[in-house]
Amino acid sequence: MGSRGHYRYHWQSHNVKQSGVDDMVLLSKITEDSIVENLKKRYMDDYIFTYIGPVLISVNPFKQMPYFSEKEVEMYQGAAPYENPPHIYALADHMYRNMVIDRENQCVIISGESGAGKTVAAKYIMGYISRISGGGPKVQHVKDIILQSNPLLEAFGNAKTVRNNNSSRFGKYFEIQFSPGGEPDGGKISNFLLEKSRVVMRNPGERSFHIFYQLIEGANAEQRSNLGITSLEYYYYLNQSGSYKVDDINDKSDFQETIHAMNVIGIFSDEQAMVLQIVAGVLHLGNITFKESGNYAAVESEEFLAFPAFLLGINQNRLKEKLTSRQMDSKWGGKSESINVTLNVEQACYTRDALSKALHARVFDFLVDSINKAMEKDHEEYNIGVLDIYGFEIFQKNGFEQFCINFVNEKLQQIFIELTLKAEQEEYIQEGIKWTPIDYFNNKIVCDLIESKVNPPGIMSILDDVCATMHAVGEGADQTLLQKLRMQIGTHDHFNSWNQGFIVHHYAGKVSYDVDGFCERNRDVLFTDLIELMQSSEIPFIKALFPESLQAEKKGRPTTAGSKIKKQANDLVSTLMKCTPHYIRCIKPNETKKPKDWEESRVKHQVEYLGLKENIRVRRAGYAYRRIFRKFLNRYAILTKESWASWHGDEKQGVLHLLRSVNIDPDQFQLGRTKVFIKAPESLFLLEETRERKYDGFARTIQKAWRKYTARKRYVQMREEASDLLLNRKERRRHSINRNFVGDYIGMDDRPELRKFVGKREKIDFADTVTKYDRRFKGIKRDLILTPKCVYLIGREKVKQGPEKGQVREVMKRRIEVERITAVSASTMQDDFIILHEQEYDSLLECTFKTEFISLLAKRFEERTQRKLPLKFSNTLDLKLKKENWGPWSAGGSRQVQFLQGQGDMAILKPSSKTLQVSIGPGLPKNSRPSKKNFVQSGAISRQQSSFPVRAAPAPPGTTSHNSVHNSVHHRPAPGYLQAQPKGTGSKMERPSLPQPHSINKERNQRLQPNLDFLRVPDQGAAGIQRQMTNRPPPGGGRPKPAPKPKPQMPQCKALYAYDAQDTDELSFNADDVIEIVREVSWFRGRLQKAISEV
Ligand SMILES: Nc1ncnc2c1ncn2[C@@H]1O[C@H](COP(=O)(O)OP(=O)(O)OP(=O)(O)O)[C@@H](O)[C@H]1O
Ligand SMILES: [Mg+2]
Repeated sequence: MGSRGHYRYHWQSHNVKQSGVDDMVLLSKITEDSIVENLKKRYMDDYIFTYIGPVLISVNPFKQMPYFSEKEVEMYQGAAPYENPPHIYALADHMYRNMVIDRENQCVIISGESGAGKTVAAKYIMGYISRISGGGPKVQHVKDIILQSNPLLEAFGNAKTVRNNNSSRFGKYFEIQFSPGGEPDGGKISNFLLEKSRVVMRNPGERSFHIFYQLIEGANAEQRSNLGITSLEYYYYLNQSGSYKVDDINDKSDFQETIHAMNVIGIFSDEQAMVLQIVAGVLHLGNITFKESGNYAAVESEEFLAFPAFLLGINQNRLKEKLTSRQMDSKWGGKSESINVTLNVEQACYTRDALSKALHARVFDFLVDSINKAMEKDHEEYNIGVLDIYGFEIFQKNGFEQFCINFVNEKLQQIFIELTLKAEQEEYIQEGIKWTPIDYFNNKIVCDLIESKVNPPGIMSILDDVCATMHAVGEGADQTLLQKLRMQIGTHDHFNSWNQGFIVHHYAGKVSYDVDGFCERNRDVLFTDLIELMQSSEIPFIKALFPESLQAEKKGRPTTAGSKIKKQANDLVSTLMKCTPHYIRCIKPNETKKPKDWEESRVKHQVEYLGLKENIRVRRAGYAYRRIFRKFLNRYAILTKESWASWHGDEKQGVLHLLRSVNIDPDQFQLGRTKVFIKAPESLFLLEETRERKYDGFARTIQKAWRKYTARKRYVQMREEASDLLLNRKERRRHSINRNFVGDYIGMDDRPELRKFVGKREKIDFADTVTKYDRRFKGIKRDLILTPKCVYLIGREKVKQGPEKGQVREVMKRRIEVERITAVSASTMQDDFIILHEQEYDSLLECTFKTEFISLLAKRFEERTQRKLPLKFSNTLDLKLKKENWGPWSAGGSRQVQFLQGQGDMAILKPSSKTLQVSIGPGLPKNSRPSKKNFVQSGAISRQQSSFPVRAAPAPPGTTSHNSVHNSVHHRPAPGYLQAQPKGTGSKMERPSLPQPHSINKERNQRLQPNLDFLRVPDQGAAGIQRQMTNRPPPGGGRPKPAPKPKPQMPQCKALYAYDAQDTDELSFNADDVIEIVREVSWFRGRLQKAISEV
């Protein structure tokens, strides 16, 4: 991570391009402008992620970034944060590892306004965790469900708004549950308040939930006819907002994805059919219109009743009756009596819409339940929760739904403030750490304005009071609400009223709410009549969606939508408070949804209200890490003998002992009353790295023993197979025929300089140092590495330029994908020469363990190509040369290697310009086979220690298995449909006739040229003013600029004598020079005045 000034001590930092600073704690000037500037610089360079300590800032790029591939999944796995550029995978990895190591639940709170990228971020996290965690087929099934729950819930719960083409219209907290081994084996979704009013109405230019469009675009012929599907314009519920298509959404293919998701989740095909039938039923309900008849409503055209009644399995007349009248209980004296009241047109429309909204919401709940059942686990162990809610939003008209959505966002901001700004500072004081407080705007005042119960009562309480006293369809209730609000909280700093509603000064800006409909939506009762109607359905699935018992006496006030969301939000807060929290703060750089479009004022506004500046200040003056003593001791117990397996004695002393064991500077930490505080993340990384190294060492010892134990049989078999490849084709060396196969002869685990050329998790099948011969038959050492995918040849070169001039560095000389190898050839004698043939040119190698190499290569080749690797045995071999663009050999050309019978076991080479003659004495006959019993314990030849283990890195994470399920909606037996077809409408089934034009269309057309002022950067209101007032502390909390981050301390040694380097990879030094030991393998690798070399 290069941005840590000039302290670039990690080898990877040289490979990473930089842009601005990647942790804004390192900004030289902490102002909102410099934060915006840094984010902009990085954004324009295509870096969307930036840290503020552990908080990840993510700026929506509005285009697919290239850094989410398998390569990054590997790169970030188990990597220390400074090894790689900031990334959401780093955060996800950190969370996962924390959970596994510390055995603590984790959560990630993803916040940001609508369209800032929260849902995309949540999906990246789920995808990453599912890819890096292990598990058998059962776990894979849970992973599939976790991933497939997204397209399914998005189909029914997301919609195009003016802010976002795929806007979440519900909130979701997804707990991924894990086994103690870290395998995701269960999960639970809690969902929050779906914006169901969208089914029946929405702002101009917006759409209803995606599923309606998906069904119409994606249904097959049978579905079209059974469900009465025609064109989008035909349905009133869809045609009123004038938006049908979305640029980046393909409803037709998304429909298939929705069906696929239902299959994966295990929703039966008859249930799937019912779900779609209700979706169609809702659309058809919307086409029922009413006319005035006297003072009452009558269904305008009765034929429109038939189709919804048929789809919902209810009686057409009963439907008509329930839409135009209602049973009311009334009390006369002591008696109560039920009377039938007829409804007017407005009330009838309202009733129809209430039914449609309820149907959609209940289907949505059914889907959430189905997902939960499919992931259910009988007991909970550890979990990672991912919170993705609907973002803060301001529309032209903001109703009750926006009020609830913005309230939940306000609560999330409050958590962030509580945990990162308030609690952090309070903790320093509690623990007795010296601290100068840093001011910030605390939005608790706005939360209280909305949810407070008393003194003064909040908006929701006042709303509930009004609802408790209103009549069935509450005309005038909304105005009463407005009056009461003015009376009771009219003078609140964060509240204003206007003639149609009220204004709340939210943390993210002033929002003006229209009170129209607030009371109805808050009451959110589904009339008993409608429940009865749906319970009378002859379709059991639909009946089951309305399980309410109507006989039960209702006590107390019914729950309102407002109190429900308030409770949900507060429950959520307490759930989150129980986990170790992580934060992603999403920023939306523009409203055009275009890449590279940077609207400065918009970003600045978000930077301000998110409190990023205060976040940086607290972070910078504070301590990056804190942990209670016991937990710290547990985590780092492995570091020293004294602390392993547990520390006996005073915990504080134990912590001190561990910190000293890694030589952390005393000014880098403080011990509080119960916790240790560590200042810079780098000091922590040092601890983590040392811990990793220790674990690695132990793990390797265990692996080695285990491997020895299990490998025998496998190796015998491998050796036999290898021998079979050469049987009757090549003479064998005496001592090689019965030797063990080791695979890695150079100890790749301890050779990061070689491993870096190979994928981080790529398994090493074979690695050995070989001799490679060039066109003049000059031999040079190369490391030959075989992985399941590639053959690598690594050489060494002196650096010609730059600060490392003169040093020797490993360079990749050749990389051949296994499937590109066309053949391997060798002689029939016992020599070690092989030629790797490839399309372009061949490589002539002398390799001691050629039998092992060839057999492993042959296996991988067959795996990848389903063909046998062509092997050629001949004593005259052709070698195709590389084409060079310069010099006398530019034509490429070829060479020959001839093998002659000679003497002894050593090959004698006689090169001439075009031919290499190799002579060698006879080996074991070609039909020699290894003896089965005599399994020699590494009798020959390992060049270094007797056996380096073959590195068995975990297999690359499996990708989701996509069961190829095509459209598999199977309908229930057709007769039911056919019988139920209403008379007289049969011919219209193919293409239902269009309803009468709505009078609302005129009004709609007017509305279609919307005023887009609401898309402007919002007014900050009192929240902003207060923020500015509290925003004037001296930079860095009055402290001096922090000292540059310390380098991790390395062990050092002092030279007793001077030494002059004898070779390119040695270090010259004088007596008394201090040398840092960078690495100790079999040689020491040390650093002296920036030169790194072996000593
Ligand atoms: N990391 C990303 N890479 C590419 N495109 C992105 C990324 N994040 C967001 N987008 C784009 O922005 C759109 C909106 O993002 P997303 O749906 O995640 O927003 P949101 O914050 O969940 O909004 P809402 O609150 O409305 O649900 C996405 O559909 C996608 O087109
Ligand atoms: Mg979203």
